[in-house]
Amino acid sequence: MPKERSRVQIHMAIRKFRYEDLEEVAEIASHSLQEKYTLDFFLYLWQISPDGFLVAEKNGKVVGFIIALQPCSEELRILMLAVDKNFRRQGIGSSLLKELLLRFPARRIYLEVRTGNREAIKFYEKHGFRIKEKIENFYTDDSPAFLMEKVLF
Ligand SMILES: CC(C)(COP(=O)(O)OP(=O)(O)OC[C@H]1O[C@@H](n2cnc3c(N)ncnc32)[C@H](O)[C@@H]1OP(=O)(O)O)[C@@H](O)C(=O)NCCC(=O)NCCS
Repeated sequence: MPKERSRVQIHMAIRKFRYEDLEEVAEIASHSLQEKYTLDFFLYLWQISPDGFLVAEKNGKVVGFIIALQPCSEELRILMLAVDKNFRRQGIGSSLLKELLLRFPARRIYLEVRTGNREAIKFYEKHGFRIKEKIENFYTDDSPAFLMEKVLF
């Protein structure tokens, strides 16, 4: 008789941030990003960019988020992107980025990333971003950043 296999349905959705997501988002940020952000800071970003704050939810759990701002209709600035470390390399960061770009069809998309963050640099390169310049003393600990951008048309 064939061995019975358990079938677990894995459901992943990208949706707008909701207030109830706050603690989970802050927890992912705290283990993923070197900069430390308060809960109020996330609420502030939500207030100024309610449509640009997306989360990835898997089986009812928030497993990643992206926050972006549109300084003008032509441009989109990604402020934060992080995926729970237990859920990386499963396409969640890519899904968040793709959904964001569908919702905000900008000509130029840009972001800053720590120059030593090779994983994130590889991730963005895979998505067509290129390093444009180095910005000295960008972070609160005075570390430099790379400005990365993708220009679409
Ligand atoms: C960067 C980050 C968001 C990527 O999320 P993710 O869900 O793991 O990314 P994906 O699974 O969609 O990866 C897509 C592609 O990016 C590249 N990539 C992602 N992580 C990588 C790594 N650790 N090393 C090398 N390439 C990597 C690969 O090409 C990957 O495709 P593959 O898995 O088929 O090889 C995640 O690593 C993260 O949260 N890092 C910490 C926070 C951070 O640095 N944020 C960015 C600050 S600007």
